[in-house]
Amino acid sequence: MSKTPILKIENLTHVYSKGTPFELSALNGINLEIGRGEVIGIIGHTGSGKSTLIQHLNALIKPTEGKIYLDGKDINESKQSVKEARSRVGLVFQYPEYQLFEETVYKDIAFGPKNMRLTPDEIDVRVRASAQFVGIDEELLERSPFDLSGGQKRRIAIAGVIAMLPEVLVLDEPMAGLDPAGRREIMENLMGYHRETGNAMLIVTHSMEEAARYAQRMIVLEHGRVAMDGTPDQVFSREKELKEMGLAVPEMTELAEKLRGCGLPLEGTIYTVEQMRDALLRLGGGRQDA
Ligand SMILES: Nc1ncnc2c1ncn2[C@@H]1O[C@H](COP(=O)(O)OP(=O)(O)O)[C@@H](O)[C@H]1O
Ligand SMILES: [Mg+2]
Repeated sequence: MSKTPILKIENLTHVYSKGTPFELSALNGINLEIGRGEVIGIIGHTGSGKSTLIQHLNALIKPTEGKIYLDGKDINESKQSVKEARSRVGLVFQYPEYQLFEETVYKDIAFGPKNMRLTPDEIDVRVRASAQFVGIDEELLERSPFDLSGGQKRRIAIAGVIAMLPEVLVLDEPMAGLDPAGRREIMENLMGYHRETGNAMLIVTHSMEEAARYAQRMIVLEHGRVAMDGTPDQVFSREKELKEMGLAVPEMTELAEKLRGCGLPLEGTIYTVEQMRDALLRLGGGRQDA
């Protein structure tokens, strides 16, 4: 495996409406390296720059200053490099279901691969495989996406990006607006894609618990800067700073701290309900089969 990071963000600054009274500095000198196969949660208060940052990763917007390298190559160097970045870095927007526009589900999922000039046979394989990935039945492929439920539309939109087999899959709040079961299903689908391909995944999320559950690394943005970058444990150990940023550690982490404060010797890291259950069971003398 090559040591070059799949993505390198160097001194990235983004200023909106530069030179007008509305000038706003959304990103201020960001430096990051994204390794092949990493699963990263991107966290931050509304307005911290998360969406602006990820739109740079496939050259959708241009840096005011700084560079983005894909596999060591500046993605904004030429029309060709921009095009390459668009197919190798897949971006799923917030509420992507509003961007469906073809008359059938099949055509919508096929849109990206078609732009990559794959053959109809290759396109067909990819459409069916990605539909399966996100749990969309074959029989829905000939339906209009507009007849389907919100959750199904979301999955179709994600399938359309997965069909390009991006080496980096970037998602802006993919679970927003879904119920807990729907959120879980989408995340499990995405983790399936990651496991099967080994490709990197960046997920912007509001939920600390979800980030901790799925990501090995968390990047916390504040005012367009990287405020924290580490494992969930490292990030959650800075509870006071997180609170000052308007972010909270997961409920279970907070409860574990309180219980420890009351003298319960809970062991291990706890951010999910399952981890809390297991820690409590270990204390109780091991009714692990419960
Ligand atoms: N198209 C735009 N034009 C002007 N300002 C913008 C635009 N998009 C975002 N901003 C501003 O840039 C800052 C960062 O926004 P954004 O990247 O959307 O943050 P987040 O996704 O973390 O909520 C905010 O102050 C936001 O108001
Ligand atoms: Mg956003």
